[in-house]
Amino acid sequence: MADKIVLAYSGGLDTSVAIKWIKEKYNLDVIALTIDVGNERDFSAIRQKALDVGAIKALVVDAKDSFVNEYVFPALQADALYEAEYPLATALARPLMAKLLVDTAQGEGASAVAHGCTGKGNDQVRFEVSVNALAPGLKIIAPAREWGMTREQTINYAQRHGIPVPVTVASPYSIDENLWGKSIECGVLEDPWVEPPEEVFTWTKSAGETPDKPDYVEVGFEKGIPVTIDGQELNGVSLIQRLNGLAGRRGVGRVDHVENRLVGIKSREIYEAPGAKVLLQAHQALEAMTLSKSQLRFKQKVAQEYADLIYNGLWFTALRQDLAAYVKSSQRFVTGIVRLKLFKGSSSVVGRKSPFSLYSYGLATYDKADVFDQSASPGFIHIWGLSARTQAQVQKIDGDKGIDVSQ
Ligand code: ARG
Repeated sequence: MADKIVLAYSGGLDTSVAIKWIKEKYNLDVIALTIDVGNERDFSAIRQKALDVGAIKALVVDAKDSFVNEYVFPALQADALYEAEYPLATALARPLMAKLLVDTAQGEGASAVAHGCTGKGNDQVRFEVSVNALAPGLKIIAPAREWGMTREQTINYAQRHGIPVPVTVASPYSIDENLWGKSIECGVLEDPWVEPPEEVFTWTKSAGETPDKPDYVEVGFEKGIPVTIDGQELNGVSLIQRLNGLAGRRGVGRVDHVENRLVGIKSREIYEAPGAKVLLQAHQALEAMTLSKSQLRFKQKVAQEYADLIYNGLWFTALRQDLAAYVKSSQRFVTGIVRLKLFKGSSSVVGRKSPFSLYSYGLATYDKADVFDQSASPGFIHIWGLSARTQAQVQKIDGDKGIDVSQ
């Protein structure tokens, strides 16, 4: 009996060819594992296809809840946004998929796992670093990186082996999607000067085609986790789905990003992430009201560190656990409601309230209700400016005069 291998199976051309190729090249029996992270596909057809192509077993796992609760929401609480643009949908799903590959391999007594990534992207790194961290002894095979076939050769291989070639192969775009967002690469998008054709967008309306009246939405948070929309309690998965629909119809959530891949390549990526856009914006607005200035300043650094770490495939590390502990602690008063206006492709925060708000009307107002003691300000300014004054007296700081900035 041949050894077994668990393959992360999407149902697309590469992973279908991989089922046959692994058997031919390594004589391993392939167990296909398809993971539902909210990409809304026909999973029973995908499962059947894996079996038709030659997998000895085909499993489909609904991982939407764990994806949202264990990966997406912690990243939202951290305000993780890669290079200030990308909400990390694909990057967050990969460690979860790696974990499910490992669990399945262990449960099925398989000696190896496989994924369909090429050798040029981030996903190979995320899969393999995660698998290595969780199960150091497990062998990893990356057929699409190894076989050295062009797209045409892969199609030929499929045809020779009776593997159905999906019609989507005709599409020039490479797409990955889950609940947290969709990414689109390749085709004309590889020219960063070319405006993305309208056809690449399927989650978001073009701003020009959205209604002329704004839409409003209220998102309620509990300790940094979104729990209600317009007062209605929803579980994480439904809440994100609802916002994807709502904001997408208003054209919110398109991103055009020239991005720095971990492997050193700059790539032009188009994203659609309406729900993520609205939630990140709302969450930050609530933090602005419930965290102190120094908490906010520090948390921004953590956010960037956390986003890089997720992007770079380091989810299963001690540093990630440390950052997660800090982020969780920072969220204990991030409870309240944020009101957003969605209009013609943009979303803006127009209201926020919280039982733990640090905003004080008495301190902020210029009206009669003012309780701020202005007579204390001169003393404050005297001490605050002490160091600047001392230096100016000795070193004659006089505007920019006398400073040579010419090189
Ligand atoms: N550039 C994004 C990332 O690295 C999206 C990658 C999409 N992956 C894919 N296999 N199409 O996370």
